[in-house]
Amino acid sequence: MDRLIEALRGAHRVFVLTGAGISAESGLPTFRGAGGYWRERRFEELASPEGFARDPRLVWEWYNERIAAYADARPNPGHFALAELERRVTLTLATQNVDSLHRRAGSQNVLELHGDLREALCSQCRERRTIGAAFPLDEIEHACGGRFRPNVVWFGESLPQHAWNAAAEAASAADVILVVGTSAQVYPAAALASDMNERAFVAEINPDATGLSGRCDLTIRATAAQALPRIVGAMA
Ligand code: OAD
Repeated sequence: MDRLIEALRGAHRVFVLTGAGISAESGLPTFRGAGGYWRERRFEELASPEGFARDPRLVWEWYNERIAAYADARPNPGHFALAELERRVTLTLATQNVDSLHRRAGSQNVLELHGDLREALCSQCRERRTIGAAFPLDEIEHACGGRFRPNVVWFGESLPQHAWNAAAEAASAADVILVVGTSAQVYPAAALASDMNERAFVAEINPDATGLSGRCDLTIRATAAQALPRIVGAMA
């Protein structure tokens, strides 16, 4: 961990990529780990354009459950430590999460690669609607002939262009890349950690090994809420 702290102290630019694991200690399930969504449910049904076309109510029911879980969740010490790190170094945080917990912890420079579950988007006229406690199922069909869907990225879809371009640029320019709580299996997001910058010091924080671990300069086998406050605290 000392090598990472040294690298962060000397860094001009830091890039952080997070995934569902950083929110695990806020009580939110991951996708692929024990208790993860994709252990019991099929992502083709719930997180793809084809699944939505087949059964939009089923998809919205699942997202409404997640919206409720996000509303009950609070940022954990891992989220807060990254917000604190941004006050000390020039940092860009790209997240695959749609739970808003980074912003709620105070992070400012956040790129939401997989969208934002606080909004619904009409698939035809692109009208956006802020979602309150839940999206009303009787309002899925829009007057324009389209359907409101969650404003998130599904399998087979492109990432929002601005977020992707800004994340790719920040990853390429970084001296230190921190990869926290992601299995690094979903592309293109995972490429930000490994394929864009051979010069950066890359550190992974994850209690389990991932496909990326072998290519990191340092792997910290701890949870985000354990490791990040220690790292950021030690920089003072
Ligand atoms: P995954 O569920 O694939 O991976 C979560 C990672 O977090 C695993 O490697 C765990 O070991 C790790 N983890 C678990 N608890 C942790 C903790 N307390 N601290 C740190 N790490 C912990 O989730 P993602 O990599 O985010 O996309 O998945 C990527 C994308 O796949 C998601 O954005 C979502 C999903 O399908 C879409 O729905 C499009």
